Amino acid sequence: MLLAELLLLTFLLFDYGKSTEITFKNVNFQGYRMFTPKFRPTILSGNNLKDYLPNKDFDTLEFVDQVIPVLYENSIADIEHLNELIIESSNVREIRPGAFKNLPHLNRISLKVNKLERIENGVFNNLQLHTLDLSHNQITNVYPHAFDDMRHIYYINLAYNNISKWDPSWFKNTPELSILFMKNNLIEELPERSFQNLRIKNIKIRNLNLIFSNNKISKIHPKAFVDLKRINQLVLTNNLLEKFDKEILQNVVVNDLRLNNNSIQCFEENALDTIFRGQSVYIEFNPFDCECLKILQKWAKNNNNKYLGINEIKCDDDDEEEPDVIEIENVVWDNTLSVNRITLVLPRKN
Ligand SMILES: *[C@@H]1O[C@H](CO)[C@@H](O)[C@H](O)[C@H]1NC(C)=O
Ligand SMILES: *[C@@H]1O[C@H](CO)[C@@H](O)[C@H](O)[C@H]1NC(C)=O
Repeated sequence: MLLAELLLLTFLLFDYGKSTEITFKNVNFQGYRMFTPKFRPTILSGNNLKDYLPNKDFDTLEFVDQVIPVLYENSIADIEHLNELIIESSNVREIRPGAFKNLPHLNRISLKVNKLERIENGVFNNLQLHTLDLSHNQITNVYPHAFDDMRHIYYINLAYNNISKWDPSWFKNTPELSILFMKNNLIEELPERSFQNLRIKNIKIRNLNLIFSNNKISKIHPKAFVDLKRINQLVLTNNLLEKFDKEILQNVVVNDLRLNNNSIQCFEENALDTIFRGQSVYIEFNPFDCECLKILQKWAKNNNNKYLGINEIKCDDDDEEEPDVIEIENVVWDNTLSVNRITLVLPRKN
């Protein structure tokens, strides 16, 4: 009797545990076909979206301003016609591995403006997506294999999140990945071989765009980009770089390089031909002193007046030159001299 009760209790608990996995409670969504609204059902309570699709006349499903805290396993599964899935501003905190399954035509997902804190392995792998928007969440933790084996992914947007560490093991087997938005995160460093998985393995040229503006990057390993030959756009605007060494771009040509709004004191003169060899280079809003500006402007002049964003900056070196401050240990003020004359007795070296 007791045993039977215990079993029943266990079963009930187990069943209860299962039955709480309800992704959609009082949720509205909109179905579209070719941008035309087709239906707008409400799900009172259920986990499998496919059970609530009134017909097959749609290519896009959109959830906006809903409350969907957790996308449980199989919540978005077995929907043959789905092309684009939009779940925006819907308080999504968590996506369980296996939430997206058997979606043969799904090529875009937007989950922007939610409350995601981590992206686990097993959520996006092996989907046929070309576009994934995870911007404006609170992601701090992206698992090392979270984006592996996304063979058609072209665009990933992780902007406006809380990512503080770049992991070189991300993006394995993503041969089409070309646009990576990482702006407005908290990344501090680009470590050695940061882009080892974005190396081009065949003749095909990947037109890579890496957008890292508005992070906290103060360190770039000299071999951070060693796996890449060419980058279309590398945006490091608004970071904390104090220097940018020649080695970083030794073997990679960056078509459009943006280093503006950092704390770079200057570049080494013999590094300029390497760092500035791409088509556009923006270096304005760095604390270059006059001496540095002169070196940079001279280089620009000798290189067809290449636009660096600083060519116009006037150095008031000559007009309002601040006097050099000489530190002197022994100063003797001779009162007998006129007030304009001061005798400085410089300490003898050795
Ligand atoms: C993410 O960063 C924002 C702003 O810096 C902060 O308010 C928020 O608490 C952070 N969230 C997490 C989960 O760390
Ligand atoms: C760069 O800094 C300047 C001066 O502080 C500011 O006006 C400008 O908006 C900044 N640009 C970016 C892209 O942050």
